[in-house]
Amino acid sequence: MGTIVTVASQKGGVGKTTTALNLGYSLSRFGGGVLIVDGDPQASLGIASNLKQQTKVGLMDVLLGRATPEEIVVPTRDGLLALVGMGRVDPADLGSLEEAARSGALGALVRRLAAGYGYTLIDAPAGAGSITVGFLAVSESVILPVQPRTLSLKTISSFLKVIHWTRRTSNPDLRLSGVLVTMFDAARRADVVAIEEVRSTFPPDVLFRTTIPLDDGLEEASVRAVPAWLLPGAEHAARSYMELALEVKSRAFEGELQDASGVGLF
Ligand SMILES: Nc1ncnc2c1ncn2[C@@H]1O[C@H](COP(=O)(O)OP(=O)(O)O)[C@@H](O)[C@H]1O
Ligand SMILES: [Mg+2]
Repeated sequence: MGTIVTVASQKGGVGKTTTALNLGYSLSRFGGGVLIVDGDPQASLGIASNLKQQTKVGLMDVLLGRATPEEIVVPTRDGLLALVGMGRVDPADLGSLEEAARSGALGALVRRLAAGYGYTLIDAPAGAGSITVGFLAVSESVILPVQPRTLSLKTISSFLKVIHWTRRTSNPDLRLSGVLVTMFDAARRADVVAIEEVRSTFPPDVLFRTTIPLDDGLEEASVRAVPAWLLPGAEHAARSYMELALEVKSRAFEGELQDASGVGLF
């Protein structure tokens, strides 16, 4: 069974979708198979937006019995990465989707899809509504992107509460993979101060060491729904997501080491 990671935050526009796409692409370069799940019912804003043809059917279609799980997986040409879209969610279907999230059907579907992949990254909708909570219930960890300008201690604390609540009610093993600072402008004093404040308030592991720069290339890549590595001029930003992939992997490894301490190597 692979690792399911949800990218979530209370706020929209903080880089969740960009992170799911670029971190997913970066992780996939190591092999082992990566699946990116567009879990935002406003799919017009999601990863699937420019891949409409390929991801016409998605999670919603399986939940409504219009497609099989196998039919909604879209592999990329290189075979290292695959995508699952949300599918068409008519306003009238939103209630069914939320109900499927609450009953566990949505989570069970994601688990089933994730079984064949080393990593599954879920791009969650903004907020901590039933859909996000349904994804958290089947995730091993969660990444919380925040922008430095709205990086308030309150935002982080309130999301940590959601994680604690999920642990108590549905998923005792859920971990915070880390808080990821996105759209960081190192030349902007306020951005630097905001990060320092967080570092001095929370335990050292809460923030990822890696920060994602504010970068036009990344914005363009994200608008075109392609990973930044595939867009000339966006290498700098792409590199930051590769660094994040390494950090995510090493954090997971350190967690396993802690779990296995005392157990011999052979
Ligand atoms: N590091 C970045 N630098 C510049 N623009 C970015 C960066 N990350 C995301 N964006 C842009 O910010 C907007 C919001 O990002 P998005 O990933 O869609 O956020 P969310 O999924 O949280 O709503 C998009 O227009 C995207 O292109
Ligand atoms: Mg999004």
